[in-house]
Amino acid sequence: MTARELLQQVAIDRGDAEGLLANALRVNRAWLFAHRDEPVDDSCAEHFMEQARARAEGEPLAYLLGYRDFWSLRLNVNRDVLIPRRETEHLVEWAIERIDAGAQRILDLGTGSGAIALACKSERPQVEMCAVDGCQEALSCARANGESLGLEVDWLYSDWFEKVPPNYWDLVVSNPPYIAANDAHLSRGDLPAEPALALIGGHTGLESIDHIVAGAPDFLRPGGWLLLEHGFDQAELVAGLLRTKGFSKVSTRRDWSGHARMTGGQWLN
Ligand SMILES: C[S@@+](CC[C@H](N)C(=O)[O-])C[C@H]1O[C@@H](n2cnc3c(N)ncnc32)[C@H](O)[C@@H]1O
Repeated sequence: MTARELLQQVAIDRGDAEGLLANALRVNRAWLFAHRDEPVDDSCAEHFMEQARARAEGEPLAYLLGYRDFWSLRLNVNRDVLIPRRETEHLVEWAIERIDAGAQRILDLGTGSGAIALACKSERPQVEMCAVDGCQEALSCARANGESLGLEVDWLYSDWFEKVPPNYWDLVVSNPPYIAANDAHLSRGDLPAEPALALIGGHTGLESIDHIVAGAPDFLRPGGWLLLEHGFDQAELVAGLLRTKGFSKVSTRRDWSGHARMTGGQWLN
């Protein structure tokens, strides 16, 4: 069967199908287009059909391909980690602003595939970067990404701050789980396939953020910053938590779609 025929056989999004077939053939899409009337090797065709079936049943494209591009990096991903989101690139931009303003010791809490830590380290290699996760399998994925990209990060298995050195960090950045356990979004899109530990922030969704805000002052140096990603409807609540805890200069930023998706503040005490 030719590439064109294979693409016509599957009932999934055309872009996804081309991505899967190009990946199975280890070529790029331009090659696929130029060679679409040539016969495809049987084992590649079979692999593609299997993956297309899985995609039709809801398996996320990134898990099937085994990677997701984030920032300027290609990150390997699997079912142990959240698929990095474009919105999180805004958090990386904000973290880099803080680094350029003098932050040297950076802590990424809940690193998953290593997305935030590796993006910051790739842009500003001089920083000391530590990345924490409470899931060993996620940390293995992040460490492997760091090794293949040649980026040095201290990978730490810890329940949030539990094993983190106190009074040390200029910047704590985190995209923690923030979806409420009964939120209907959990059954939509890629979310059913992603790890619950990466998505669910407790009964209200804010428990992990609350825990991080409460703990951060003991770990930040005076003048240090805490930057948090959160849900589109949580900005006021997160800003409130930061102000109540005593953070200064609390502000919220919006993502590409205009949603208020990250809030941060400075610890001056
Ligand atoms: C929303 S994901 C973010 C992953 C990555 N930072 C990103 O932006 O793509 C949240 C991460 O927090 C981790 N996590 C959840 N509970 C944790 C805990 N108690 N301690 C440390 N990490 C935790 C999850 O394993 C997951 O990797």
